[in-house]
Amino acid sequence: VSAPARPGRRRRPRLPEAADAAFHDAHQPGVATRQQAHVALAAFDVVDDATPDDVRDVLAAWSAAAARLMAGGRSAQDVDAGRDGGEAHELVPAGLTLTFGLGPGLFDPARFGLADRRPIGLEPLPAFACDALDERRCGGDLCVQACADDPQVAFHAIHALTRAAHGIARPRWAQTGFVRRGTVEDRGRTPRNLLGFREGASNLRDPGQLARHVWVDRGDRTGMRGGTYLVVRRIRADLEAWDAAPIAAQERAVGRTKVTGARLEAPDRDAHTVRAGPALNGGARLLRRSYNFFDGVDTATGALDAGLLLLCFQRDPRRQYAPIQRALDAQDALARYGVHTGSAVFAIPPGCRPGGYVGEPLLEAP
Ligand code: HEM
Repeated sequence: VSAPARPGRRRRPRLPEAADAAFHDAHQPGVATRQQAHVALAAFDVVDDATPDDVRDVLAAWSAAAARLMAGGRSAQDVDAGRDGGEAHELVPAGLTLTFGLGPGLFDPARFGLADRRPIGLEPLPAFACDALDERRCGGDLCVQACADDPQVAFHAIHALTRAAHGIARPRWAQTGFVRRGTVEDRGRTPRNLLGFREGASNLRDPGQLARHVWVDRGDRTGMRGGTYLVVRRIRADLEAWDAAPIAAQERAVGRTKVTGARLEAPDRDAHTVRAGPALNGGARLLRRSYNFFDGVDTATGALDAGLLLLCFQRDPRRQYAPIQRALDAQDALARYGVHTGSAVFAIPPGCRPGGYVGEPLLEAP
């Protein structure tokens, strides 16, 4: 049910629905895909004695499994034979998308002999003032982003792919997240984060913007064309300090009103949306696909361990995430309400054809 178009109100373009996303496509799914309600993100370490062929085998096994999982293909025989854990048996795919990424460590000259294949934009992120990083939530040689409208389906995908990588790659860290998807009652509005503000209003949507800011074109390895880069930041919110701030101060920190999400007419110079916006960052923009997270209680302080799992896609993190984060480090009224506890960067190669695998043109190029 869609609301009747109001005269004079321009309809914003929307990203394609997850149910229409195909695993075999020019781009991997789960990037320019309308956000599902849940994410399960896992980063993996490849074992030190793995060969380049082992790495290729994992990506080939994952790609074959992903096409099957996204199509909801789970057979009773696989469950009976113990090849599938069975926890998603009889569940519909719930818009599952699977997105695979390659971390900087995979191309380390001292490791798998893949140094000459390293995607040009894939460099470890520099240190930032907002960092309070826990190494156990950072990095990784490979990543899988599983998004679905059912958390059990997303978990099952991570479980199945972890099994498929057994002996070659093992989970290093994982993070789940949730977001309220625009519903009929909400008239499809952008969802709210745990600070109570709507997020995504000024996000990238139309294909021209995606071509400009998200998809790799020239200036990188041929095997990355049609791919992108993912920056992950686990940002823990200081909800006690936030709750103590008057609403007017919260709105000034964001640069938007809380209830409606409208831009403030005269935002402060240090408002988050001003500092993160393209005007102050040489036109740099990000495709944000962030989720809220809630990981229980920090037993040392008694505070809720909750915040924002920032997932943002771009064609070059060195020219997009890094300068935007530096601008926020220098001055961002919102930054005093959160610290970054996890961080990772991954190259997201383009999509693959049936029979091929994600990363093949990059890893197999002569
Ligand atoms: C707890 C941390 C954060 C919260 C709660 C948060 C929240 C928000 C909100 C409410 C908006 C305005 C609505 C929208 O356009 O989406 C926004 C905009 C934005 N945020 Fe954040 N954000 C956080 C951290 C970050 C970080 C670390 C970055 C990147 C380095 C970032 C990049 C952006 C960008 C690029 C915009 C759009 C600015 C514009 O073009 O108007 N945010 N954020």
